[in-house]
Amino acid sequence: MNMRAPTLVASVLPADFSELGEEVRRLEKAGVDRIQWDVMDGRFVPNLTFGPDVISANRGHVSMGFEAHLMVDDPDPMLAKWVEAGCEIVIVHAESVRHLHRTLSVIADLGARAGVALNPATPLEAVTNVLDLVDLLLVMTVNPGFGGQQYLATMERKIAAARAEIDERGLDIELEVDGGIAAGTIGAAARAGADVFCAGSALLNGAGTLEDRATALRSAATDGIESR
Ligand code: DX5
Repeated sequence: MNMRAPTLVASVLPADFSELGEEVRRLEKAGVDRIQWDVMDGRFVPNLTFGPDVISANRGHVSMGFEAHLMVDDPDPMLAKWVEAGCEIVIVHAESVRHLHRTLSVIADLGARAGVALNPATPLEAVTNVLDLVDLLLVMTVNPGFGGQQYLATMERKIAAARAEIDERGLDIELEVDGGIAAGTIGAAARAGADVFCAGSALLNGAGTLEDRATALRSAATDGIESR
């Protein structure tokens, strides 16, 4: 059983967009490991956020990793832009590309780590034939498009199946969950098999300091992983 230490990723979707530089600096200072840039095109999801220029404008403010979560139709034409903007990981949705094997190969050729995301209704089987090309598998625990939604516990079967597939094949893949990850849900996601946890609202809002919330989430994730 793969027992990595948890990685805590902050989604900037609920951040104050008028002060993104300060927000990412605060998140790094609070001990978050990586930033997730929720890229939305208003077509793949009913929301519109930011492009590569916004990401590159923030690259110099922090040294932590950036991942681009591309919730867009047809991400292929712009793959290089996210890497040039400073993202070390580029995550495409399996539902958004026609030739996923080729898309993942292109991301690797660009020198980035390749991620693939699955919407709640998409089975794990959609990616089992390309896991050899995957560095990060993102299991959505909400329907993508907005922060602050309810965690879908029904996704834990898919998380557990992904964990089993990764471990059985000895693959070096980060298993990330995203959507409604908070103090009350992160333990269950960790027990199911996740080792990377993306949180937006639970990190950027809530009682106590940002550091307290980051520490509490990381501690709950660690307990969940260790209790598998
Ligand atoms: C949803 C995004 C998530 C979301 C997480 O489309 O991919 O990253 O912003 O926000 P919370 O943690 O508030 O659900």
